[in-house]
Amino acid sequence: MTQTYPVDMALTPEVKAFFDPATWTISYVVKDPASNSCAVVDSVMDIDYAAGRISYESADEIIAYVREHDLKVEWLLETHVHADHLSAAPYLQDNIGGKIGIGENITIVQDVFGKVFNEGTEFQRDGSQFDRLFKDGDTYTIGTMNCFTMHTPGHTPACMTHTMGNATFTGDTLFMPDGGSARADFPGGDAATLYDSIQKVLALPDDMRLFMCHDYGPNGRDIEWETSVGDEKAHNIHVGAGKTKADFVKFREERDAQLDMPRLIIPSLQVNMRAGELPPADQDGKTFLKVPVNGL
Ligand SMILES: [Fe+2]
Repeated sequence: MTQTYPVDMALTPEVKAFFDPATWTISYVVKDPASNSCAVVDSVMDIDYAAGRISYESADEIIAYVREHDLKVEWLLETHVHADHLSAAPYLQDNIGGKIGIGENITIVQDVFGKVFNEGTEFQRDGSQFDRLFKDGDTYTIGTMNCFTMHTPGHTPACMTHTMGNATFTGDTLFMPDGGSARADFPGGDAATLYDSIQKVLALPDDMRLFMCHDYGPNGRDIEWETSVGDEKAHNIHVGAGKTKADFVKFREERDAQLDMPRLIIPSLQVNMRAGELPPADQDGKTFLKVPVNGL
């Protein structure tokens, strides 16, 4: 069955990648081929967690690139609430503009982690910290280019995949073919749901370019972030050729049971559930992050 999608997949947006070696995250600036409009996908705020110190070297690289190329930032997109790095979206918004967007199920994540961190009633669980909450099949534009979102839950309940012309940003719904897939054991995650979401991505045309949010250079290879639907279908070690849903769920659940929590999950969730803002300062103007003891 050939599906139709509400974008022109003949368009080739310019995709500039920024790799953060501290968290293995790839952020992107995606430019409309017909204008100077762009979107930033999954930015990173730097943190030295041991020292409780944040900084913006990674975000400043994106700002410099945007200014150097005279780009107009329309969107600051989060594919999901990341548990392994902090978003720099508000810092970017202050400096280069753009609307912050995430999946509408951010409200589920806010509800779960609002409780984990014992946030007071002033912490809104309605997604109102974001400028746009995307639903499955929503469309938006970057300059003249139509884009659309697919809800691809499983890794987290709020995961969205964004398609812009012939470029698709999968977040953590897929890794490179030799990396397989991301864990599905966070609250609201589910291996069978992740498998179904991956099938939605793999239903895109074979020559669709896919851009990953993370790469860990498995087996010593260099870091890579771009593949295609055809490559993933043929070679993905977790869901490629011949792997059934039952195979995937069994493998994923066994693997996830052995994984440690991501190093930055505690600061990441507190910040990212607030669209990248730090928790409000106390009466002395000091800002703190909490560590819930035995709460995760
Ligand atoms: Fe993630």
